Amino acid sequence: MTKNVLTKLPHRWRYIGLVLTGSIILYTTCLLLPMEPSGINPTVVLTEETNRLYGLHNFVSRLPKVQRDIITEETSEERDVREQRRESIKQSFLYGWNGYKTYALGADELKPLSNRSSNPFGGLGATLVDSIGTMLIMELDIDELLPLIQNINVKPDEPMSVFETIIRYVGGLLSAFELSDHPKKHILLDKAEEIGLALLPAFETAFGLPYYHFNPLTKVSKTNTTYLADAATIQLEFITLSYHTGNPIFAEKAQVITDFLDSADYSQGVTVPGLYPTDINIAGGYFKNSVISFGAMGDSAYEYFLKQYLLVDGTVPQFARMYEQSIDSMKSHMLVQLPGVKFLYLTPYDTDRNLKTNAMDHLTCFVPGMLAIGSKIFNRPDDMKVAKGLLDTCVHMYRSSNTHLSPEIWSAGKDAVQYNPMTYGKSEEELVEARSWKTWRNRNIVRPPPPLKKQESIQKFSRVLDAVPDTPDGTVIYDTRYLLRPETIESLFIMYRMTGDPVYQEYGWLIYQAIETYCKTKSAYASVRNVRLSKMDITSNQIDSMETPPDLISLDKFVFNTEAHPLLRRPMDVSK
Ligand SMILES: *[C@@H]1O[C@H](CO)[C@@H](O)[C@H](O)[C@H]1NC(C)=O
Ligand SMILES: *[C@@H]1O[C@H](CO)[C@@H](O)[C@H](O)[C@H]1NC(C)=O
Repeated sequence: MTKNVLTKLPHRWRYIGLVLTGSIILYTTCLLLPMEPSGINPTVVLTEETNRLYGLHNFVSRLPKVQRDIITEETSEERDVREQRRESIKQSFLYGWNGYKTYALGADELKPLSNRSSNPFGGLGATLVDSIGTMLIMELDIDELLPLIQNINVKPDEPMSVFETIIRYVGGLLSAFELSDHPKKHILLDKAEEIGLALLPAFETAFGLPYYHFNPLTKVSKTNTTYLADAATIQLEFITLSYHTGNPIFAEKAQVITDFLDSADYSQGVTVPGLYPTDINIAGGYFKNSVISFGAMGDSAYEYFLKQYLLVDGTVPQFARMYEQSIDSMKSHMLVQLPGVKFLYLTPYDTDRNLKTNAMDHLTCFVPGMLAIGSKIFNRPDDMKVAKGLLDTCVHMYRSSNTHLSPEIWSAGKDAVQYNPMTYGKSEEELVEARSWKTWRNRNIVRPPPPLKKQESIQKFSRVLDAVPDTPDGTVIYDTRYLLRPETIESLFIMYRMTGDPVYQEYGWLIYQAIETYCKTKSAYASVRNVRLSKMDITSNQIDSMETPPDLISLDKFVFNTEAHPLLRRPMDVSK
């Protein structure tokens, strides 16, 4: 059954994931150095609409600060490197964008090998909508795109994924609306509202859980089954939509789903608090299976517990309680370690059979970033350790393959055991030694060792890569494809903003280079069939950059939706 979870390919992120997500994130990762917010002139009081990439000027979160304040001193050499990289990323974005524009404008996706287009997301122009925010961050002109947005017909006579429509179209349009100062930007909000209204009938079900696929014209769905991630990844978008339109209905629909999960009990299939199985029967209001996943089909439901708490700046304690409950249970049931190394693996877990495979999929690599932010917000230092252990694994999967691209699914191997903070990172010999009579006999005559010297604070660029631990033996690749997935880059970006450690920029850059080498086609970017060999198919896009100040898209001002569209944080009471 876990195999089932892993082989069903997640609908999110497919071809174009990296176009946008990767673009925004790589852009910010490679280009921006965290600094004190003094970069903004505090005497200029901006209205909500004109703050653009810096967030609401008069918003200071009452939650703990996420980003680290670092004044980074760059040598002119380092500055050159950074600027060259930024320019490369921008060129890559434009390369992919131009391919889409030439051969597929208005369609969901470009097929980067055949130069044809495809419409896996309802045909409303997913790449177009997904790209506007990236273009705004790059300071590119969106003028010619607005009429195309205005002409989107939101009621195609075909089944659309409610989830994809919300995270790509509603999320993308709202984010662009918040980032833009274009005089006609209301087009973006109007279209988001139109799409939101067209989707509302999908929520007219017994428990308020939305249909998985839904035809906005006929208002019909073919199935009563949906997936956790599909049902529970709408809060950021719908809360924000209610905020801007003044129509509370969207936030109410979102809250019903949160409440459903919060109250789901054993009779409905929840056997471990905070862990929700992936398959849901929306007519019956129960979970159909017992497999928990922080990867395919589960992932963003957990992500949104934390992110909606950030979005409303902590005004709803329920979101925090649900997040912490889920993470506590995840850590005690789904996390595995290997003796003697710091690598951690997050695997699907079957609660009924108390069974986990040691498999981890790339989608799970968003978790390090989530845990890192949560560790700050809720003062959970162990979560930061776990975040780093998981991110080491994700990065390792890139670095250890011949192409330097990560496979889709891998396994920790047979030595993996349940994560235990008491034994994490220690070898079997060390654990034996710790308990040996010698250790104890000598204990009262041995002085504690002197503290280790603090490492030289921040090393620069590629030199730091040498410090990365070797591959643990026994890691097995289950699925050799690289599907242009952005989750690892997202986690690297967050970790960089939180720690200021340039090693995370370096990892992002390595991944970028591998994509340039193996994914680029004559018209755009494609996925790769076997990361151990070389290049192949599927569409995507990329990154970009421009000279921009360092507190751009600060994590203390924005929260990214699961499609990497930044949305403004502000106190909002949505629980009424
Ligand atoms: C796709 O477009 C590119 C760039 O215009 C071109 O070089 C390539 O030959 C095209 N591929 C096909 C299959 O037509
Ligand atoms: C979904 O469940 C409802 C209520 O039980 C039922 O009327 C409907 O036929 C079901 N739809 C499908 C597609 O099975």
